Amino acid sequence: MIGLNDRWTTLLSTFDIDPYGQVKDKRIEDWKKIISNLPLMNHTKVNLVNGITVQGKWDSKDRKRTEEDLMQLVPWRKGPFTIQDVFIDAEWQSSMKWKRILELDIDLKEKNILDVGSGNGYYGFRMLGKGAEFVICLEPNVTHLTQFLALNHFINSDRIRMVPQRIEEISFSDKCFDLVFSMGVLYHQRNPENHLNLLASHLKEEGQIILETLIAPDEYGQALIPKSTYANMSNVWFIHTRKGLEDLVNDSGLKILQIGSSVKTTPVEQRATKWMPFRSLVDGLDQALDRTVEGLPSPDRVVLVLTKL
Ligand SMILES: C[S@@+](CC[C@H](N)C(=O)[O-])C[C@H]1O[C@@H](n2cnc3c(N)ncnc32)[C@H](O)[C@@H]1O
Repeated sequence: MIGLNDRWTTLLSTFDIDPYGQVKDKRIEDWKKIISNLPLMNHTKVNLVNGITVQGKWDSKDRKRTEEDLMQLVPWRKGPFTIQDVFIDAEWQSSMKWKRILELDIDLKEKNILDVGSGNGYYGFRMLGKGAEFVICLEPNVTHLTQFLALNHFINSDRIRMVPQRIEEISFSDKCFDLVFSMGVLYHQRNPENHLNLLASHLKEEGQIILETLIAPDEYGQALIPKSTYANMSNVWFIHTRKGLEDLVNDSGLKILQIGSSVKTTPVEQRATKWMPFRSLVDGLDQALDRTVEGLPSPDRVVLVLTKL
């Protein structure tokens, strides 16, 4: 844990005995049983470079048991993952976003990274595949935490941890991360400026924030503010335009180093599968797929690299 200070080490140690910490959720006891029943795999080979695969030796009966156990953790939003021949075909083809991030030539080697709103850790594992030193994932959703625990049972890395807390709940800010990621999180915040300030508060002076978010057409001024839902999602508060993002970044004492091209999210990237059998992107779009069911522009995403002013 090079570069991580005592307060992070202490916080992580509070989750050593119980990874759910103080979280109260009646599903936790069942989840703990699932995790502790996962089979052992021997002679394991883990590949986090071209995707996320774990190959090794286990009893033939373990395959069926593992698939059934992991299936109980639906919905699998981010993925895919291959555990021996169990293929977890998640809702998102997350390698598409990861490719767009890597196109910006961000150096992850030997970096200490905070991934805020990490989901089940898909990207955190890919960061390790690119040589990151240590990754802390912040993720308040305990279904995602449970998937992470199941995955890391097989991947078995001590260079990644998940803390089931929102960034607002971290009571200290020690500027000790080289990179802070916030992907798919900004538009879910009621106070986006506060979110950027919090991201910056954990960043080393020369560090970088990787911000991936939805972007709205210029005609919306600063931001598209959905009156009710956006593509059926009830927790989208602001979708900034390019100008809105520039102003927000400036007002937070940050500057834009790079901005990638915007890319439409399509049902190739996000769709229902056996591992996420509920409503997905197509259900939130009109038939031509160019507007949401609320008549708003369909999702367009962008990646920005930010640094302190
Ligand atoms: C749309 S998902 C994005 C997951 C992943 N980062 C990605 O890009 O695919 C947003 C995640 O952020 C988490 N989240 C939302 N607000 C957060 C906050 N204030 N602090 C930490 N996590 C947050 C949610 O629980 C959710 O899992």
